Amino acid sequence: MSIRNLIDLNQLSSEELDDIVDMAGRISRHPTHYCSACRDKLMATLFYEPSTRTQMSFQSAMLRLGGKIIGFDNPNSTSVAKGESLKDTVTVLGGYTDILTIRHPIEGAAMAASLYSDVPVINAGDGGHLHPTQTLTDIVTLRNVVGRTDNLVIGMCGDLANGRTVHSLCRSMSRYSGNSFVFISTQKLSMPQYIKDYVKSMGCEYSEVRTLEEAIPYLDVLYMTRIQRERFDSVEEYEAQKGIYVLDGKKMSLGRPELCVLHPLPRVDEISYEVDDDPRAYYFQQTLYGMYARMALIIRMTSQHETCAPVKREETPKFTCHNPKCITRFERYLPHLTVDTPKGKVCAYCEHDEN
Ligand code: CP
Repeated sequence: MSIRNLIDLNQLSSEELDDIVDMAGRISRHPTHYCSACRDKLMATLFYEPSTRTQMSFQSAMLRLGGKIIGFDNPNSTSVAKGESLKDTVTVLGGYTDILTIRHPIEGAAMAASLYSDVPVINAGDGGHLHPTQTLTDIVTLRNVVGRTDNLVIGMCGDLANGRTVHSLCRSMSRYSGNSFVFISTQKLSMPQYIKDYVKSMGCEYSEVRTLEEAIPYLDVLYMTRIQRERFDSVEEYEAQKGIYVLDGKKMSLGRPELCVLHPLPRVDEISYEVDDDPRAYYFQQTLYGMYARMALIIRMTSQHETCAPVKREETPKFTCHNPKCITRFERYLPHLTVDTPKGKVCAYCEHDEN
């Protein structure tokens, strides 16, 4: 694999992505064939934010590959509570292990961590920014359940403003030909402009609607998401948005027989429990494909990292991004790194405009 760290799934070439998706399919059919693939490898899971699926599927994946795991799921039980920086924690744990996975509530944290780790870093979700291994999970699920990842009408519903899963998924699905998107949200929780610009730049169409009912009859895939309470500035703002979109049996009756309903989970109230028994509901199978997807990713990343050059840290002045949710606001030693895009320079950590 040409990359050392996985921060954004779009770092992978189409061939590399296909290779991992194919491998995940093979592992799902013959899991025991891979039970020694990571023998003698140790993975650290650094979870600064709550998680059920991502954390435990990474841990299950590594254990099923014959590897071992260490880590934390409560930073307050570590020296983070004493004020230890992300840089110092990552530097130390990178010395103990062969690969790190990190989930953090702040945008750009995984990218920042990758600057200081001597071993590969996998982004397990950075604030409202990206969640590449969820997207890998989603692609593996679509390949195995729908049978294709192209020429799909994909509806995304809920908290599109704060949902890192839909941001990552939009970008990756835009790479396949013939896909189009229907964004179903309130004005307040609409898809960020930089994601819509990306979709357009890839030649994909998108539309925005306010109700599930007007979109669902036309969809091949419906990707439901939770309203992300933890990303709101106040309880009042969250209360104003919650409960607006609820997928129930009545709305499912408007969908096509081939509809595939996905959800990264956890759900709160956006999918009624009655939908779980509908054969078009695939969100629990999706969690299982997530483990196989992560097994494939771990194999690829641990077997090739020795040949990949470490990320170069530029000795540049300290940097504070305009985005109040960017990691540079919280870890004040980070170098000033930018990425050139067709619309100008953006912060390399959170992709917020420089201007
Ligand atoms: N899909 C997902 O990221 O779930 P968790 O927050 O439980 O890891």
